[in-house]
Formats: sequence, structure tokens, C-alpha cells
Amino acid sequence: MEAYRYDKSFELYDRANEVVPCGLYGHLGVGRARLNPMGCYPLFSDHAEGTYIWDVDGNRFIDYACAYGPNALGYQDPDVDAAALRQREKGNCTTVVSPVMIECAEKLVETLNCADWAFFAKNGGDVTTLAVMTARHATGRKKIIMMEHGYHGVYQWCQKPGTPGVLDEEICNNLYVPFNDFDAIEKMVKDHPGEIAGILSMPYDHISHYDNVLPKEDYWPKVRKLCDDHGIVLIIDDVRAGFRMDLAGSDHYFGIKADLLTLGKAIANGWNMAALVGRKEMRDAVEDMNYTGSYWLSAVPLAASVATLTKMKEIDATGIMRKTGEKLISGLKQVADANKVNLSTTGLPSLFKIILKDPDESMIPHQEWIGEMVRRGVYISHFHNMFTNTAMTDQDLQYTFDNADETLKMIIKKYPQILL
Ligand SMILES: Cc1ncc(COP(=O)(O)O)c(C=O)c1O
Repeated sequence: MEAYRYDKSFELYDRANEVVPCGLYGHLGVGRARLNPMGCYPLFSDHAEGTYIWDVDGNRFIDYACAYGPNALGYQDPDVDAAALRQREKGNCTTVVSPVMIECAEKLVETLNCADWAFFAKNGGDVTTLAVMTARHATGRKKIIMMEHGYHGVYQWCQKPGTPGVLDEEICNNLYVPFNDFDAIEKMVKDHPGEIAGILSMPYDHISHYDNVLPKEDYWPKVRKLCDDHGIVLIIDDVRAGFRMDLAGSDHYFGIKADLLTLGKAIANGWNMAALVGRKEMRDAVEDMNYTGSYWLSAVPLAASVATLTKMKEIDATGIMRKTGEKLISGLKQVADANKVNLSTTGLPSLFKIILKDPDESMIPHQEWIGEMVRRGVYISHFHNMFTNTAMTDQDLQYTFDNADETLKMIIKKYPQILL
């Protein structure tokens, strides 16, 4: 397989850098080691379809980043996009709201186990923020227990201490505990009697740069009971994992019912929408909120979401994504075993994390391996968990295995110390 060139991407990056801070920011930028090794990733895409993206240099990639989650049914899914375009002809951002809002709320209530109501916004961060405000208002308390490696967006309250522009006062009511450590949560609750408004956590630890961690078997039921015993609101942040583990919610997957569940990303297959859903006991608190945005009830993404949720159920998208993930992980493991290297595969198959281990734990061979795969058409992040979607075929998986095998051999030649 020949390595791709990114001449146009780099040219465009220089142009972007003239007028956009960092050229590209966040996890899409080249700064802060996000896209290591430098030069292995395309920076601008031309178009996308199914599971593929084509960059501006004409290179095609099987995209395991899935737009970092939204792409669940394939880019440009014909059913979802037809529903969106039908609504587009009628109107999108209008003074008076379209009844498609009700249809979408009904769909979410029908689909998500903990949902008695739904509230719409745009980004995951909009609804994690609303969830925390709701927990505080519902309990009259200030403090939120959060997981050390949790990610809930970029609003001030959920930034890490020391982040430029974030005041200590904005995060002083966050209490951090390690994920999966029930005793630490219980101690935190005991140490702050009557002060904890909510516990906020992703359903499992999708930690960047490290292996992902699934909850111990009794972890979530114990957390649920602790919340019930102390009147604490349990918020599960399902923005990333939502619909990939269980259509009825990741809380349902782990045998519990959250009080509030945040959704985004896959909820509209890439059309911009997020939602907070919750139990009826939480409804009064949300009703008191002054919380909205100019585009939050735009009709096109709501129509796209109805079509997405309908199709996901019809085709058992969650099951397809899981099975594809299982095949992918087992194939990559076989490639690693045949080459006598240690590939760790963690998380759930539809939201998998892979790390090529080396005895020095330097991550350099891992990053270079991932970089070489990307340069040959398999888009994987070296630090983030990845995703499957329902458009991936066995042929795509086979290409991925062949690519992984060829590039692994290159890396072993350069770093023979990774051999078992
Ligand atoms: C678990 C989780 N919560 C919240 C967010 C924030 O979502 P958004 O980027 O749409 O604001 C993300 C985004 O990656 C996420 O993974």
C-alpha cells in the first residue's frame, strides 16, 4: 500500500492559520500532540459517504473516528438525509416551532428507558451543563461528584483546574473521584453531608491516551442506591456512548435507571442536535430553567433525529455496530498475535480503544503505527477511543487488517523491542 500525500491539506492549513486561531483547534488541530505523528493525518476533507471520507488531496479513508461519534448509520445516510431535506423544504429556523419537536421528544421517550421528557439543544456541552444546573436546582445543593478523567464538553464548569480563562470559583464545587471506585464516591458523600447535588459520569471510562475501563459488575447498582439513599441526582453522560451500547441508554445497558441522561453525537447521525432526557421527578426543575439558544429548536436536525432513531431501531443499529466491532477487534488481535506484539483492546467493541504496547510504555511505536495506518487509508486516532458504524463492510475490515499487518511489520523493523 502506498503512503498518501497531503499537499493540499497542508496548503490549506497555512491559509487557515492566517485567519483562524491555531489554524484548526481542539482535537482537530495539529497542536498539543493531537494528531501525532505530525504529517500522518489529512487536515481537510472534501466529501464523505457511508463509512468513508475523502480528503482534499483525493485520498480515501475508512473512518473509524466517525466524526468522533455522530456517524452511526454512515455519512449521508439516504433515509436520514431525505427526512432532513423534506423538512428543509418546509422550514428550519423559524419564529414558531415545528411540531417535529414533539415527534422527536416522543421518539426519545419511547426509545430511552429513563426518559419521561426530552429537552433539546445543539452540543453535548449544552446538555451536560443543563443537567448539572437541573441537579443543583432540584436538590438546592451545590456540589457535583465527577470522575477524574471525565469529559463533558468545554463549558467553564467542566474544565480542569488551571485551564486558561477558567476561574477557581467556577469549578470549586466539583469533587473528583476515580472511575470505578465506589468507596471513594461513598466517602465523598459522607465527607460532604447534605451537600452533593449530583453524580456525573460517563457510563464507562473512555479515557484518552490510556486503556478504557469498564465498570465492575456491581458498581452502577451501588452508585444508584447511594444516590437514592442520599437524594443525589444521578447524571449519566451518554453523549459519546449513546445508542452504541444500548438503544435504550447506556444506563439501561448497565442495569440501572439514570435520573438525567445526556445525549448528542449519534442522536441525529451528524445533524447538529443534543438532548437532555430524564425522569418525571426531574421535570419541575427543568421547567424553571431559563435555558435556550437561537438554533436549538431548528426543525431540520429534529427531523433528522426522528429518522435516525427510527432507522436505528428498525435495523438494530446497536447490534450491527457491536458485531462489526467484535469482528474488527478479533481481526486486529489476530494480526497482532501473528506478528508477536501486544495489542491492548479495551472498551466495548462499538467504542473501542486500541494501544500497541511497548516495554518502555513510550507510546512512540503505537503513535507511529497508527500514523502509518492513517497514511494508507485507515483513519484512527492514536489517543481517542474509536467507533464503528452500520455502513462498515467485511471488505472494509479486511482492508483494515491488511493495512494493520503491513504497517505493523514496518514498525517492528524500526522498534524490535516491541516483540513479545
Ligand atoms: C462524554 C461526552 N460528553 C460531552 C461531550 C461534549 O459534547 P460536544 O462536543 O457536542 O459539546 C463529549 C464530546 O466529545 C463527550 O464525549
